[in-house]
Amino acid sequence: MNVAIVGATGAVGREMVRDLEESKLTDVKLRLFASPRSKGAKISFRDHMHEVEAYSTEALKGIPYVLMSAGGSFSKEVSRALVAQGSTVIDNSSAWRMDPETALVVPEVNGDLLVKNSKPQIIANPNCSTIQMVVALKPLADRFGLDLVQVATYQSVSGTGQKGIAELAGQLEAKMKFQDVEPKAYAQPIAFNLLPGIDVFDTDGHCYEEIKMVQETRKIMGLPNLDVFAATVRVPTFHCHGEMVTVKLKKSITRAEALDAFRTAKGIVLNEKDDHASQPTPRTVTGDGRVFVSRVRLQYGHNSSPWLQFWNVADNLKKGAATNAVQILETLAGVKH
Ligand SMILES: NC(=O)c1ccc[n+]([C@@H]2O[C@H](COP(=O)([O-])OP(=O)(O)OC[C@H]3O[C@@H](n4cnc5c(N)ncnc54)[C@H](OP(=O)(O)O)[C@@H]3O)[C@@H](O)[C@H]2O)c1
Repeated sequence: MNVAIVGATGAVGREMVRDLEESKLTDVKLRLFASPRSKGAKISFRDHMHEVEAYSTEALKGIPYVLMSAGGSFSKEVSRALVAQGSTVIDNSSAWRMDPETALVVPEVNGDLLVKNSKPQIIANPNCSTIQMVVALKPLADRFGLDLVQVATYQSVSGTGQKGIAELAGQLEAKMKFQDVEPKAYAQPIAFNLLPGIDVFDTDGHCYEEIKMVQETRKIMGLPNLDVFAATVRVPTFHCHGEMVTVKLKKSITRAEALDAFRTAKGIVLNEKDDHASQPTPRTVTGDGRVFVSRVRLQYGHNSSPWLQFWNVADNLKKGAATNAVQILETLAGVKH
């Protein structure tokens, strides 16, 4: 099975290589592409060094599956041409997510949209913070119905790609030497700081990361009128996004019912302990492709309530990007999850 990764040298692209390596797709013949800057770089895949090629649409002729992770404007430029020459493009950027003709897929939630051996098309991989949230919302929506979702995110710098990782590393080093730090990737220093907004603001004060969480959640869950109120915050961690999610359900439930819904859900690791040491955190879940849910509880003072809150943490480069894309590819190739 011929597969190309475009953006293979990026934070997400490198994880895609690792996820493909561990996937059930044992017969993958992989080609790696990036910008001309990376031509000749070497990346290991299944014990062989693969040379990164400079992207050209022509060079991808005959490759049926393209994992695209090279930014939105680049994807807008090339993805339709790739489909026209016979490739299915699984795109990581925001370019196609809200296009009505394009499926926006999280396999645990709406994997039924993926049809084996379907004609070449673009399939959009959702935003990282949205993916981990909808995996956790799915069992609640199925069992109890969703009325409202409120979320505060704590998002790591790898969500900004290699430049975010380099920025935090450089600023930490400088701070330790009592030197001043000049922000580049963000408007203010990220080291020892919290930045209360991600991506550009609209005229009503919402930032684009928050808008993505609203729009994409509605589309993936097939709930176009769902109220979603998101607050997205960049924090000085390297990997994983944490989210404190509050939901209002369509009916009152007990804590036991909520725990039971999460316990049997696809893609979720549930921690039921009420202690500090066992809580999943960015440090404990880095490199894992699953979504970790814990601190599940009702509104204080109630034994039964439609209001529920929980902590949700996942690796943004894994389930938030590469793992989800590779799961889409596996499903298209007929692998059962
Ligand atoms: N980071 C996350 O958590 C995350 C999660 C979900 C979705 N995404 C999305 O995934 C995409 C990639 O993000 P990232 O974090 O991996 O970014 P990144 O670390 O900056 O990597 C970008 C990749 O795109 C390549 N690229 C840039 N311009 C190109 C061109 N003209 N032709 C071919 N390749 C080109 C880069 O190649 P060079 O190395 O040669 O420059 C690099 O491989 C973005 O659309 C992002 O929004 C990211």
